[in-house]
Amino acid sequence: MRAQDVAHEVAERLSRAGSPSPGPEARILVAHALGIEPSQLLISRVSKRQRPVIDALAERRAEGVPLQHLTGEAYFRHETLKVGPGVFIPRPETEEMVGWALDRLAERPSDRRRVVELCAGSGAITAALARELGHIELHAVELSPEAHAYLARNLEGLGVDILLGDMAEAFHELDGTVDLVIANPPYIPEAHRQILPDDVLQDPEIALFSGPDGLDALRVVAEVGRRLLRPGGLLATEHDDSHAPAVVELFETAGFAEVASRNDLTGRPRFVTATRPPVSGRIGL
Ligand SMILES: C[S@@+](CC[C@H](N)C(=O)[O-])C[C@H]1O[C@@H](n2cnc3c(N)ncnc32)[C@H](O)[C@@H]1O
Repeated sequence: MRAQDVAHEVAERLSRAGSPSPGPEARILVAHALGIEPSQLLISRVSKRQRPVIDALAERRAEGVPLQHLTGEAYFRHETLKVGPGVFIPRPETEEMVGWALDRLAERPSDRRRVVELCAGSGAITAALARELGHIELHAVELSPEAHAYLARNLEGLGVDILLGDMAEAFHELDGTVDLVIANPPYIPEAHRQILPDDVLQDPEIALFSGPDGLDALRVVAEVGRRLLRPGGLLATEHDDSHAPAVVELFETAGFAEVASRNDLTGRPRFVTATRPPVSGRIGL
């Protein structure tokens, strides 16, 4: 049977199951099962042995298993990352923050590009920084052992200093010397657990929830940022799109300067950037 026709059938199955983008998902699943690129579907055929594999994948996707867990891969900017249960699937909402960071780093001399990523997960952010600009000294910390295994795999060969541990205590040896701290921490309020869509709940809890107001991890990011950054160093952190005023206030209260709210690709306020002021002061958290 022609692969293109099988992809149409799978798309109909996924559409009935409520998939928001059944066509592209079906093409990715069928191509994955055949071991080809989606662009090759038009010139490929599905054998009798391959068909049950495709049907099983379509069934699991229809049951709500994330597409990325079925293929084992997620895309972020120009990166293809290994993912699976136990690691947060990188989201396009984070891509704009990485673009901002790349622009700021490119303005700096290459000996002023020491970067720490907090809450690194699959390593999507650090991998993009490493490959898109280069000449960056990169450090990344992740608390979950399951996620750390993906982090190590995705960053293999990029020369990144990778740590399994709590960001609160990470990289003390770099205190006061870092040029950029970047993070996409957990930021969903505990109370939102009941109203989250099923696909979000497929990500590990430790990657999602952060105390009653969703700001617990962001408070730690502010503290660790103050500790790690050199005077004039930059911080960028993602947050929930409803939290922009609260996160701006949090970083201003923590003594950061030039605190600014910035939008993601869809125009929603998604990340805050700030500068560690030249004169160190008490953290007002
Ligand atoms: C929202 S995910 C982001 C992952 C990745 N940076 C990305 O953008 O795809 C948050 C990550 O923070 C990790 N994490 C949560 N608390 C942490 C802590 N105290 N220290 C280090 N990592 C932590 C979680 O395990 C999870 O991998």
